[in-house]
Amino acid sequence: MVTKANVIHQPGPATSFSYEDILVGEPGPGQILIKHLAIGVNFIDTYFRSGLNPWTGDMPIIVGAEACGEVITLGTDVQELVAGDRIAYTFPNGAYCEHRIIDADRVVKLPEDVDSEVAAAVMLKGLTAHYLLHGTFPVQPGQTILFHAAAGGVGLLAGQWANYLGAKVIGTAGSEEKVQLALQNGYHHVINYQQDDFVAQVEEITDGQGVDVVYDSVGKDTYPQSLKCLKRCGMWVCFGQSSGVIDNFNLKDLAQHGSLFTTRPTLFDYIPTKETLTKASKALFDMLSNGHLRVSVNQKFQLAEASKVHQMLENRQTKGSTILIP
Ligand SMILES: NC(=O)c1ccc[n+]([C@@H]2O[C@H](COP(=O)([O-])OP(=O)(O)OC[C@H]3O[C@@H](n4cnc5c(N)ncnc54)[C@H](OP(=O)(O)O)[C@@H]3O)[C@@H](O)[C@H]2O)c1
Repeated sequence: MVTKANVIHQPGPATSFSYEDILVGEPGPGQILIKHLAIGVNFIDTYFRSGLNPWTGDMPIIVGAEACGEVITLGTDVQELVAGDRIAYTFPNGAYCEHRIIDADRVVKLPEDVDSEVAAAVMLKGLTAHYLLHGTFPVQPGQTILFHAAAGGVGLLAGQWANYLGAKVIGTAGSEEKVQLALQNGYHHVINYQQDDFVAQVEEITDGQGVDVVYDSVGKDTYPQSLKCLKRCGMWVCFGQSSGVIDNFNLKDLAQHGSLFTTRPTLFDYIPTKETLTKASKALFDMLSNGHLRVSVNQKFQLAEASKVHQMLENRQTKGSTILIP
């Protein structure tokens, strides 16, 4: 069959998308053909589009790692799904299109009460918040955390989730509007780090104690200041690089700032199997069903508008979640 897709023929800037017809084959053993209902946009998509994250297969490529869809046809050996089921997934890439084929063991069936657009907005971002707060550094009640880019896609979910876990939640955000939004999403304090010195502010908020953990996806612009916000033996979780790659990391800084720990985690390592994906997804869907996690779709565009969306994302013009509608 023929379907519409945003194709990247060469890695490059946000304008590199070509909206065109592509051919989709038949699902093989263990695979399903799905029709996308809504597609999540993530900052990581810009890394694959630009070539910052190298692409292992042949060109051209289709980026996009988060979506909700309806099962259209099944290959052989697919046991747990039937045509018409609503599913969601995060990874592998290839989501910026109307139809695709995907391995059945990389998708989860959606509970009825989870809306399709919400599912497309939370599969990657929500599972990221889950592994950061429960796996990488399991947050305990009474601990204090600092989460950078608090009003972003992952940031708005992480603020609510950490608050639910009983932490004191400090965030940073790049404008007054974003500060206000983060304050409505679980953060107790939000620092406008475009305007104020976040190290000094964290020191004041924590009475000089520092925080137990910094979740840092900004990268270049917040290093090494993030280390200065930590308590002795605290954890710096460096999970992204929205402002650019850190190219001056110095192991000795960890000693200088108090025997710190660090990690550079990725979502896939926390959900490598069907079992781990299903378990983490259930935790996420339970948070939604119980009302502990409220998800707004903050920006919604047509599938053909990927270039515009990537420009907005890279220019810090988005808040929370962004989806594309086929
Ligand atoms: N390792 C993992 O498993 C994993 C998984 C998911 C996401 N991530 C990472 O987490 C981060 C957040 O992802 P997301 O999709 O939710 O994106 P996002 O937070 O919605 O967007 C990125 C935000 O980063 C902030 N930022 C700071 N400096 C920036 C700069 N120079 N250019 C652009 N943005 C800048 C902006 O917020 P302000 O204007 O408020 O500063 C911007 O809105 C990304 O770095 C992503 O790669 C990592």
